[in-house]
Amino acid sequence: MVTNTEQSVADHYTRGSLLETILNGIKKAGKSVDSIQHEDLAPLDEFHLGGREATRHFLGQMGLTREMSVLDIGCGLGGAARFCAIEYGSILSGIDLTQEFIETGKTLTSWLKMDDLISLKQGSALELPLEDSSFDAAYMMHVGMNIPDKAKLCRETARVLKKGGSFGIYDVMKTSETPLNYPVPWAENSDSCSIGKAEEYLQALADAGFEIQTTSSRKEFALEFFRKWKQKMSVSKSPPPLGLHLVMGENFFEKLTNFLENIQTRRVAPFEIFAKLPE
Ligand SMILES: C[S@@+](CC[C@H](N)C(=O)[O-])C[C@H]1O[C@@H](n2cnc3c(N)ncnc32)[C@H](O)[C@@H]1O
Repeated sequence: MVTNTEQSVADHYTRGSLLETILNGIKKAGKSVDSIQHEDLAPLDEFHLGGREATRHFLGQMGLTREMSVLDIGCGLGGAARFCAIEYGSILSGIDLTQEFIETGKTLTSWLKMDDLISLKQGSALELPLEDSSFDAAYMMHVGMNIPDKAKLCRETARVLKKGGSFGIYDVMKTSETPLNYPVPWAENSDSCSIGKAEEYLQALADAGFEIQTTSSRKEFALEFFRKWKQKMSVSKSPPPLGLHLVMGENFFEKLTNFLENIQTRRVAPFEIFAKLPE
């Protein structure tokens, strides 16, 4: 059953005509669905700070190999999942709350002829529609800021992982008690924001039986990413044909500006956490 929080999260991300918007962007970029490549879509199908560069850094630490069965929790449009399948040869499953993201993600996957490597399904991270002990690894990128019950999130993830399975998290976390500036990419206001501190994640992981391996801040990477973004914005009159503005909606500039300000004023920072279940 969908909770009120889940409904408002799905509403926040639903654009209503995302596929059409992407198709227009593809046309503007002088491409077609037959010629489009995975890299062309990366600027819009990786909805987290740092895009493809961040994904490469994050997934590169997970020890993924060919044929591993990997779960992307809150997969969005499935961009990171497709990257993971291409880069490591893993078999990917993605779960996301937002129906429109899943439907659009399936279409993008079929344009890239990757249907046999990836399956995307609508569902909640708090009630994963998946069998016990079925994955070698799971990861989550910029999703926990929408999930208040981090303990349940970690228990569900532990349930679907095999013994010795690893769990990687790349989320934005709170670094002070000062209220955030809104809107941000994951929430319009504080009512729909469930951002937590790194300590909250570490406690939830430990309680679910995970052994913590590493925790690291990506604040400097984030500031550098935003520096380059501002530079690009100052030279180009309008955003590129294919970019995250298509996914974030009309107030994307305000959301990103607030996000940067929240980092600069030490209210939030992106963190990577890696944990493992015992063998
Ligand atoms: C900022 S987007 C990140 C998407 C994707 N991980 C990426 O990096 O491209 C956050 C995603 O988390 C999903 N999400 C939020 N709460 C969720 C939940 N309880 N279960 C599954 N997905 C959830 C949203 O629908 C949205 O697609």
